[in-house]
Amino acid sequence: MKYGFFDDKHKEYVIDKVNTPAPWTNYIGVNDMCAVLSQTAGGYVFYKSPQYHRITRFRPNAPIERPGHYVYLRDDDTGEYWSISWQPVAKDLKKAKYECRHGLSYSKFSCDYQNIGAQQTVFIPLNEPVELWDVKLKNKGNTPRRLSVYSYLEFSFHHIDMDNQNFQMSLYASGSSYEDGIIENDLYYEEQGYQWFTSNFQPDGFDCLRDSFLGTYRDESNPIAVETGKCSGSFEKTGNHCAALQKKVILQPDEEIRLAFMLGEGKRSAAVPVRKKYSNPANIDQAFAALADFWSEKLSKLQVNTPNQGMNTSLNIWNLYQSEVNIMFSRFASFIEVGGRTGLGYRDTSQDAMTIPHSNPVKCRKRIIELLRGLTKEGYGLHLFQPEWFDPELQGKQQTFKSPTVVPTPSRSDMIHGIKDACSDDALWLIAAISEYIKETAEFSLLDEVVTYADGGEDTVYQHMMHILDFSDRQVGSTGICKGLRADWNDCLNLGGGESAMVSFLHYWAIQHFLALSRFAGKNEEVKKYEAMAAKVKKACNDNLWDGEWYIRGITASGRKIGTHMDEEGKVHMESNTWAVFSGVADPDRAMKAMDSVDKYLYTQYGLMLNAPSYTKNDDEIGFVTRVYPGVKENGSIFSHPNPWAWCAEATLGRGDRAMKFYDALLPYNQNDKIEVREAEPYAYCQFVMGKDHTAFGRARHPFMTGSGGWAYFAATRYMLGVRPDFDSLVIDPCIPKDWSDFDVTRVWRGADYHIHVVNPDHVSKGVKTIELDGQKISGNVPAQVAGTQHEVQVVMG
Ligand code: GLC
Repeated sequence: MKYGFFDDKHKEYVIDKVNTPAPWTNYIGVNDMCAVLSQTAGGYVFYKSPQYHRITRFRPNAPIERPGHYVYLRDDDTGEYWSISWQPVAKDLKKAKYECRHGLSYSKFSCDYQNIGAQQTVFIPLNEPVELWDVKLKNKGNTPRRLSVYSYLEFSFHHIDMDNQNFQMSLYASGSSYEDGIIENDLYYEEQGYQWFTSNFQPDGFDCLRDSFLGTYRDESNPIAVETGKCSGSFEKTGNHCAALQKKVILQPDEEIRLAFMLGEGKRSAAVPVRKKYSNPANIDQAFAALADFWSEKLSKLQVNTPNQGMNTSLNIWNLYQSEVNIMFSRFASFIEVGGRTGLGYRDTSQDAMTIPHSNPVKCRKRIIELLRGLTKEGYGLHLFQPEWFDPELQGKQQTFKSPTVVPTPSRSDMIHGIKDACSDDALWLIAAISEYIKETAEFSLLDEVVTYADGGEDTVYQHMMHILDFSDRQVGSTGICKGLRADWNDCLNLGGGESAMVSFLHYWAIQHFLALSRFAGKNEEVKKYEAMAAKVKKACNDNLWDGEWYIRGITASGRKIGTHMDEEGKVHMESNTWAVFSGVADPDRAMKAMDSVDKYLYTQYGLMLNAPSYTKNDDEIGFVTRVYPGVKENGSIFSHPNPWAWCAEATLGRGDRAMKFYDALLPYNQNDKIEVREAEPYAYCQFVMGKDHTAFGRARHPFMTGSGGWAYFAATRYMLGVRPDFDSLVIDPCIPKDWSDFDVTRVWRGADYHIHVVNPDHVSKGVKTIELDGQKISGNVPAQVAGTQHEVQVVMG
């Protein structure tokens, strides 16, 4: 069953059946202000932090996602009313035609009902903290219509906790007022606690108090003010506040009008110039066009044209979009992660920063520096931290809101957790992020930049990298395999002093990144030291982790192996096998066998399961994973994030058909017509899909905020299509299905354009016979060309 389709021309996903089985979300805003909105306009907006600076309220985990950013229409002759987005009024879908177009940082809600065509486009201009609602109404009938138009949103108490618990202070510290068409929301406790809401017209009515607008024993679906056609002009110091502005209009047949609503940060006075600016529709159009240019510029850095349409739509639009959303807003704002945990997750952010330095080098660099500052001298990263804590420019000037209810302020030492809370993988990912950033930008000087440690002192970036590698070198168990510590990549595998195969493979991979960088930079002494470390790790892995057909997942503190042929549950695990291969630890024979086992035991039509069979017996030596329902999350679901590791592994083995089989299984695009199973949006990867051991096999959950976004993009572009930068050249090393005859990649790298056309006359999966650069045969990779130039690269596989 389908609920919509991909409109690639407009870079939109069009939801024409708006009653989707789960909310289908979008992210509005690209800078400081961000709204998460569903296809029915439910959701919330925040400024910088979804935890400390929420602007509108959201009631999480409710049967219907509300409230939202709504526009109501009322026929003032009949009294009938509806909303431009299907919710909250929820007109009968047989009588009213609803559509939602989710685009890149905007959503368009539209409705055709009783000869009134209505559209509400929500977006946030590039560099202004203002959410615009561009509303268009058209009378499609042949009689004049008298309508009332109402805006509605509910203001937040700014802090997620204040919105959800203990109202004895917040309820009496929040006020609203109305003056000259502008509503001001005031959180009296906070010096900067103001927002405003206004429109491009002089309103005929308003309400600032939620309960006056909705009425008692009512909700957003039937507000009294809309039912009766009359706002009550409410406002007050204290209470729950909303932004309802009413406008009465008369629409002649065929007449179309355009109204604008605006929500912004700051006091009423801040609204005045913005209102003036956006009362001119040309300025709205211009801001919207600038946003479109912003995205076109990003997307233009890498475009592909392959025989796989789903891959094209994903890589050219949605997959990059998802990766960008993750790096822009971290991973904590969605309808699942509702904002109560913010800051940076060390491993998640490191991986996000690794995957898209080509389209967002500035943010990736910023994240890398923030993460380096969140590293301890010991060499482990703080698992979750606020980057502001360690920003030298903000020392002593932290802006976080202090509630009058006494909540102890953590001291600096509380922010720096000890090794007992360290995860064994966290900082290893950062090595690759730094190396990919340098490969993309050629900014080698980053290595010499001096950065502080979280627990005091400072060093160059290069030294930080060595501390990370040395930490893993020290933190090994009796077999020489890295300890699992609190967890490794898998939050629910809690091995403590036991050992994690995955982390040793990861350690090896990180050392390889570091060695390549060091060799290129001519740092011979370090090359010697870390070559020896790599050899030691490789030997320990191959001596201790091979089980005959696959690699084990780890060893418990008491010495039991996890993931062996003897195990009835948790027999085969994806993380260790994919990393054994992708890291280069496994020799070709073991590598092939390991990935064959992944295919045999873990493959499903919706992607690869994390482990199989799922655990059903609690085993605290293995960890929390054994206490998760079978087929769910870390226990045998199709956990999306590691799936691309398998594509990378198969690509390094040259098995293009297998890599594409795995890719296609997970690709949300391919489930567009299976929504009765998938339920979630088909334009975003989800954190997980229920595995075979669950009754809801195939159901996807937690869209957008997942490492699979960045990793899918990284794996598909760099390892399947095989176009990836090195330190001074562009590598072209595809691994594709044998039946592909050709494909194209357009890549902007260090300011030069490369139009790469790959042909595959012998129908192989891997192997490059010749490369021509601008008509001249070259041997090896494509050397970096001068910025501003354009180049044709012809590649023949065989
Ligand atoms: C979640 C976490 C991520 C972790 C993964 C597996 O996605 O954000 O850090 O690696 O789960 O446990």
